[in-house]
Amino acid sequence: MSTNLEVSNWKYSSFLINQNNNFNRNEILKVLSPENIDDAYNVISSWKGYSPTPLIILNKLNEKLKFNKIFYKDESKRFHLKSFKALGGAYAVEKIIKGNGKKVISTATAGNHGRSVAWGSQKNGLKCKIFISEFVSETRAEVMRNFGADVIRVKGNYEDSLNECINQSNENNWQIVQDVAWENYKLVPKLTMAGYSVMMKEISEQIKNEKISHIILQAGVGGMAAAMVVGIARYLDHVPKIIVVEPDNAACVLESIRSGKIEKISIEKESIMGGMSCGEVSLVPWEILKNSVDYCVTVSDDYISKTVKFLANRQFSDEKIIGGECSTPGISSLIGLNNNTELKKKISLSEDSNILLFGCEGDADEELYQKLLTE
Ligand SMILES: Cc1ncc(COP(=O)(O)O)c(C=O)c1O
Repeated sequence: MSTNLEVSNWKYSSFLINQNNNFNRNEILKVLSPENIDDAYNVISSWKGYSPTPLIILNKLNEKLKFNKIFYKDESKRFHLKSFKALGGAYAVEKIIKGNGKKVISTATAGNHGRSVAWGSQKNGLKCKIFISEFVSETRAEVMRNFGADVIRVKGNYEDSLNECINQSNENNWQIVQDVAWENYKLVPKLTMAGYSVMMKEISEQIKNEKISHIILQAGVGGMAAAMVVGIARYLDHVPKIIVVEPDNAACVLESIRSGKIEKISIEKESIMGGMSCGEVSLVPWEILKNSVDYCVTVSDDYISKTVKFLANRQFSDEKIIGGECSTPGISSLIGLNNNTELKKKISLSEDSNILLFGCEGDADEELYQKLLTE
């Protein structure tokens, strides 16, 4: 079987080696304890409709790149919410509300987190207020309304929507369920990360006896990436090379890894990968990522629509895959790294490698998905 997939001119934008890399299982599991991780799995796996999302082998992409295997965790099938975020916000709502008497949940979101919080609120009979910036599409807003939430649009960017959420929540005694941590607000973000770690529990069973050599993790504020590192510490015997990928105009993890401390960057242009267009890594993820990430890489938006199409048209795998905008940079960065022979060698990518990628969302924004498919 041969493929005429043409990706030999794809490039990553920037690349960085973490000079402070020192993966330490015990330190990682101090930030998020095995009890928290196991509770999330026990609770979430008991929800109605739960089943592990598929781990698909990208055999056709691998014919081109010639590794051992490329695995793709397909989160488009996560409950009916179409992204891994379904695991975090909804779990955090359920845990935090127990016995605290609050009847209204609030959050700020780029879309997927809010959808999860709205779903969790609805399941638990709570009202939900969701704050979105001017960059969040109406398609995404409508889905959250369909889960029973009041959606409040705020002028400005994500940070402005978060500030408004905090102000109104303090005035009205609403329970904020945010996936970002700040000083004295760390419990809820830890719960959301514990929810995300369910993905790694599933993967540890799906790979059977195979060893993952490289894992590429998308980062916005770093919650998902850090939760997967936690999952590695909890569930995998072999620690893979950990690579974080970001949009090239929102490389807040890369810049923080470069300087060894949290760096806030100003976003000149919002990436189409809205969930990853973040200017500052969150406190809890940073505690985990700063010493566990091996490499950071960034990619431009130029490969998004091609990757979406290749996934849908079975050019990467035998199966059709519905991957939205944030599902693409794992693939495009892997191709970019592979195309640089010297760097490929340096980071030990070879025919023996088993690479794990995350299809972290499906067509969560249906309108944008259709546009990317036909562009
Ligand atoms: C689909 C998708 N992928 C990746 C991310 C980035 O996750 P995090 O902000 O936890 O780093 C998000 C965040 O909203 C997302 O929705």
